[in-house]
Amino acid sequence: MIKSVIFDLDGVLVSTDELHYNAWKKLADELGITEFTKEDNEKQRGVSRMESLEVVLSKGNKEYSEEEKIALADRKNNYYIEMLESIDESVILGGATETLKMLRERGIKVGVGSASKNTPMILAKTGLEKYIDKVSCGLDTTKSKPDPEVFVIAAQKLETPHEECLVVEDSAAGIVAAKAAGMKSLGVGPYYETLKADYEARTLKAVDDWNIVLDV
Ligand code: BG6
Ligand code: MG
Repeated sequence: MIKSVIFDLDGVLVSTDELHYNAWKKLADELGITEFTKEDNEKQRGVSRMESLEVVLSKGNKEYSEEEKIALADRKNNYYIEMLESIDESVILGGATETLKMLRERGIKVGVGSASKNTPMILAKTGLEKYIDKVSCGLDTTKSKPDPEVFVIAAQKLETPHEECLVVEDSAAGIVAAKAAGMKSLGVGPYYETLKADYEARTLKAVDDWNIVLDV
């Protein structure tokens, strides 16, 4: 039986995946990289800020030093933070709050496992933090998904054996990470059918039977 559920954040609990795209697009435009599209943005799902930058730069033809790359990633993050300033509970995705409440009522612990270093700010601004027991995010990790580190740290904080953890993810890298950690997985989001998760649903609202997913 599942004792803890570990949620990815961007694209699972909140629609900030859209804001990430807008901030990267703004940077790409400023660099004269016109080829960066929504399709490229899919490759940024779940991966770290620096790896996401590489996706943008690969669409242009200029070389940058490590120092310049760090400055570009910082610039994008500043645009993103500016966008985050005005978010509230309206960015919470359909079914997320209900799911978190349902898990609480069932006595199941709730964690977040996200690559984002902005996780604490997003949880505070949306008011989701009151439903979350433990957070593992880009501030805790040295390796990014598909490495399982972020979920291993979440399980440690939740004091739950890996086989009793369920990971909810919208990215292929995240599902690979969950499997590498020996955890069960539920794939959601626009590409849920391609993620090769143990269970799948378009959104948290669309999960047919939580008893099956939670192995009750
Ligand atoms: C993940 C997003 O949740 O966080 C990625 O899916 C993003 O697209 C990554 O690059 C890192 O986020 P941040 O907020 O630390 O730049
Ligand atoms: Mg995500």
